[in-house]
Parts: sequence; C-alpha cells; structure tokens
Amino acid sequence: MNIEEWEEYQHINDAMNDMINSMDDSSQMKSVVGHICRSGGKRVRPIILMLASRICGGNYEKSVNAALAIELIHSASLIHDDILDEGVIRRGVESAHKKYGPAAAMLAGDYMISKSIELISSYTAPVVREFGRAGMAMAEGETIDIKSTNGTFEDSNYFDCINKKTASLFAASAAMGAYIADADEATAEMLKDYGEKLGIAYQIIDDLLEYTETSGDKRSDHESVSILQIYQKDMSQQESIQKATDVAIEYVDMAKDILAKFGPSDAKDKLLKVTDYITIEMIPEY
Ligand code: IPE
Ligand code: MG
Repeated sequence: MNIEEWEEYQHINDAMNDMINSMDDSSQMKSVVGHICRSGGKRVRPIILMLASRICGGNYEKSVNAALAIELIHSASLIHDDILDEGVIRRGVESAHKKYGPAAAMLAGDYMISKSIELISSYTAPVVREFGRAGMAMAEGETIDIKSTNGTFEDSNYFDCINKKTASLFAASAAMGAYIADADEATAEMLKDYGEKLGIAYQIIDDLLEYTETSGDKRSDHESVSILQIYQKDMSQQESIQKATDVAIEYVDMAKDILAKFGPSDAKDKLLKVTDYITIEMIPEY
C-alpha cells in the first residue's frame, strides 16, 4: 500500500509545506521545523482524523487544520522523545537534536506545539478538549516510559504507558475528526475507542520491531522496557515474540470490530486499510 499517494496525505503535506514556507527566516527555527516536517513520516494520525471526519459526513476543508495540528504535536513529541531517549536516527535521517543541538530541537518542539494550539483554537470546545488531553497524556506516558526499569515494570504498567504515550493521540485524532463533522458524543466515543485500540496494537508492534531490530528508520541509544522483556520473565524469547504478536492482533481485531459498526463508505475502507498498514502489514512474516 502506498499511503503517500492518498489524497489525505497530499492535503496534509500541502498544509504543512504552506506553514513552513510562511515561517520567518530570521532565526534557525524554520530550518529545524522544516528538518523534521520534511523528513517523511506516514502521517497516519492526521489521515485518521480526516477519515474519521469523513465517515461521520464531514469534509476535508474543515478538518485539514486540525489534521495539521495533530501532525505537529506528534512531530514535536518525536523531537522531544529523541532528546529523552538519545535517538540518533528518526524517519531515516539524523534526529533534530543530533543535527541542531538539544536547545534548538527542544525549542522547535515548543514552537510546533504552540502552532498546533493556534490551529486548533478555531474549532469547537470538544475538539480542543480532546486535543489538550491527548497532549497531557502523551507527556505522562513518556514520564512513565523514562522511569521504566526492567524487573519492576509489569504488563499493567506497560499498557498504561503505551495507552498514554501513543494510543491517546490516535484516540484523540479519531474523536476530533468525529466532532469536527458534528457527530454526536456516542459516535465520537466509538471512534475514540477505535483509535485507542489501534494505537495500542501499533505500539506493541513498534516495540516488537525494535526488539527484533527490523525497524530501519529509527535508532536510539536508550531502550525502554517493552512487553517483550516483561513476558520473558515467564517464557522463552520465541514465545514472548509470539505472545506479543497475538496480543497486538487481538487489538487490531477490536479496532476493526468497531469500524464494522459503520455503514459502507470509502472512508471506512480507507480506515480499515490504515489499520492493517500500520499493524499487521508491519510484521515481517505477514
Ligand atoms: C513513531 O510514530 C512514534 C511511535 C509512537 C512509535 P510513527 O511511526 O507514526 O512515526 P512517523 O510519523 O511515521 O515518522
Ligand atoms: Mg522512544
């Protein structure tokens, strides 16, 4: 599947390029923000927001700014995460703090979060609330992550951590898309639940790939405790890989079961495709 050819991907990239082009050249900020924003990335969270909006009858004109806000806060979190984890390669290129130093990288993250708030400010209260809460959860999840130590980190801690640091933004993206299309709260909550299940599956698989060293576009000097190390307290390495894969697939199935409640549409088909694309299609044996 080539997500870069999707119209949603193009909309987000166009909006992102317009934003960078409109930035002031007088400081280094434009270069640092441009470095991370133009280094690729799948743009899955903003795509999910736009599709969640469409599945609820909304259009892209109304959702694209919120989608850009989501991609900006996500990209800022990657910059900050690479400072915390001493990540040296991100999206296949040198991480921002390696290239520009930690001060410039940190400030670029701050700038992008602030820009995202400006973008989100023209939406309704439920949209702004979901966005703010996701940002808070991500920071909390990262706090749990950096404090994780092998031996005391149980699977309940792991799930709490990934729910906050990763799934919260997927969940918020889907819920925000729904609210932007004026969906009712029950529908928005359903889509939020879809995003949460997908986000959990995605992070387990991301951890699996990092563990089996099959993720080529990302490398860190610091490794956090993942579900693999936790399972290995009770089973062999091979069994732990199998168990983590099985658990991830259960979450993928839960996410798809939620989408199944929606009637047929192009947006639904695409959400199903994105769901597979960032989860089971990432697993090498798949
Ligand atoms: C990376 O997210 C951070 C995690 C939550 C594992 P992505 O894998 O979505 O990163 P990009 O945006 O595609 O580079
Ligand atoms: Mg990390």
